[in-house]
Amino acid sequence: MAMIKSLAVHLLLYMVAMTVMVAADLLRFKHPVKANGSLSFLAIGDWGRRGLYNQSKVAYQMGKVGEKMDVDFIVSTGDNFYDSGLIDEHDPAFFDSFTNVYTAPSLQKQWYSVLGNHDYRGNALAQLSPELRQRDNRWLCMRSFIVNAGKVDFFFVDTTPFHGKYFSETDQEYDWRGVLPREDYVSELLKDVDVALKESSAKWKVVVGHHTIYSAGVHGNTEELVDKLLPILLENDVNLYINGHDHCLEHISSSNSQLQFLTSGGGSKAWRGDINPWNLDEMKFYYDGQGFMAAEITENDLVVSFYDVFGNMLHNWSNSGNSRRSAW
Ligand SMILES: *[C@@H]1O[C@H](CO)[C@@H](O)[C@H](O)[C@H]1NC(C)=O
Ligand SMILES: *[C@@H]1O[C@H](CO)[C@@H](O)[C@H](O)[C@H]1NC(C)=O
Ligand SMILES: *[C@@H]1O[C@H](CO)[C@@H](O)[C@H](O)[C@H]1NC(C)=O
Repeated sequence: MAMIKSLAVHLLLYMVAMTVMVAADLLRFKHPVKANGSLSFLAIGDWGRRGLYNQSKVAYQMGKVGEKMDVDFIVSTGDNFYDSGLIDEHDPAFFDSFTNVYTAPSLQKQWYSVLGNHDYRGNALAQLSPELRQRDNRWLCMRSFIVNAGKVDFFFVDTTPFHGKYFSETDQEYDWRGVLPREDYVSELLKDVDVALKESSAKWKVVVGHHTIYSAGVHGNTEELVDKLLPILLENDVNLYINGHDHCLEHISSSNSQLQFLTSGGGSKAWRGDINPWNLDEMKFYYDGQGFMAAEITENDLVVSFYDVFGNMLHNWSNSGNSRRSAW
């Protein structure tokens, strides 16, 4: 009898949980833009190594470029804390790798962060915890969410659960609390992203995730994202997909859409020296070392640049809107 009762309670809890999940919308934040309507931001990935592997040098140059551009916020493409995320909300790595590294005045802005696979190797919930925001109010990390910033909508997508490999690895542990069952999590997320993109009336659409869709780096393409996420981005006229994961700076364009694939994963350890051949019409830029990405978006123009540890601009690319308009 007791067992039947507890089973019924479990079933009820399960149903409540399912309802909440089905009804779940992506959380939205509004970020103000400058008086003239322009928005600028930096993007950095794969960084938290207590300043080592040139992390501090990258941070210093981010501060200088951030000041020049008067950036509105910073995007982190994940793998925020190496090797295995944070232990808990009080992990000193949060100060050693974030607060005490990105000290420039221009970087005292909101950071919008997603989780990378290395973050899932630790206590993933710790990085999502509001407690961290009390320790450093710049910090905001969520699995998937939206930022509306004037003419630009940003869609942050939790890509680690897409990657089948992590679920069969036996030599690594991952914190899958809140993610299982995986198939449901991934299909709900894809649906939410698709709906949100369709609802967006922003001129510019930017999607951010940790994993590559396309990359010539050592990790290469992420097949699950090519199969499942890419069609949704193409169907909804997304302009930029920004990721980390490969520890390099990279810009791949596509011949049949306006979507640009931008890797900003040069936040610390880089120089892997392992680059795969790629169609040169699409490969606009590849740099195997450390650095970061900067972007300025106005009503009519989008400019993306990449910088190295010396503050040199390595690549600069601009676009003036949807494919129909840029055709002439
Ligand atoms: C908009 O204003 C900012 C300063 O707040 C300036 O840095 C930027 O160049 C301006 N952009 C345009 C397109 O006028
Ligand atoms: C730091 O950056 C310099 C310049 O790119 C590079 O020569 C050096 O190898 C980098 N150090 C590390 C540890 O990657
Ligand atoms: C980058 O490209 C944009 C658009 O073509 C241009 O206005 C800007 O001056 C360039 N910046 C640099 C530093 O070359």
